[in-house]
Amino acid sequence: MNSPERVIIGNDEFVPLFTEEQIQNRIKALAAQISLEYKSSVPVFIGVLNGSFLFMSDLIRYLDINCEIDFFKLSSYGDAKISTGNVKLLKELNCEVNDRDIIIVEDIVDTGLSLKYIEELFSEKSPNSMKVVSLLVKPGSLKYDVKIDYIGFRIPDKFVIGYGLDFAQKYRNLRGIYVLNT
Ligand code: IMP
Ligand code: MG
Repeated sequence: MNSPERVIIGNDEFVPLFTEEQIQNRIKALAAQISLEYKSSVPVFIGVLNGSFLFMSDLIRYLDINCEIDFFKLSSYGDAKISTGNVKLLKELNCEVNDRDIIIVEDIVDTGLSLKYIEELFSEKSPNSMKVVSLLVKPGSLKYDVKIDYIGFRIPDKFVIGYGLDFAQKYRNLRGIYVLNT
């Protein structure tokens, strides 16, 4: 049986890494920092679908500045737990980012391949500034030289689910974040 204490998927057991309260407290702190740094701007928060949708919705609700939002979608891992090594754009951005201050919102940076792709994508669009906020980063997995301006939590190089993060498209609706118990 799955419960708040553990989630069983096939032969894999996932155990709590961050509770709902820990996640929300950390996001409040990130939102406070971002609000301070962007108090004379109206930044555009650009979420990377699907994983960032919950983080994006909580982050912007804790801001005390005006903002705009948009989303785009990249190809994911499919149903695997490791990166396939190539990234495709599955849904384009709709907003105009030229001369705007943009903040890319990621759920997790693992190898950094997606973020590298995103950096190249936006360097062609000439925003006024571009920063990156990622709820989770796996420093031990980074293979690309990428800049992450705001980090929620640094985590071990293990597969995680919950709070937007999926395994084979499921478990995004868990309120906490769970880690593969190996
Ligand atoms: P990267 O391109 O290797 O940095 O991987 C980035 C994307 O892979 C993230 O935006 C996630 O969608 C997915 N991903 C990486 N690690 C995990 C994980 O532990 N659980 C679920 N999804 C992950
Ligand atoms: Mg993602």
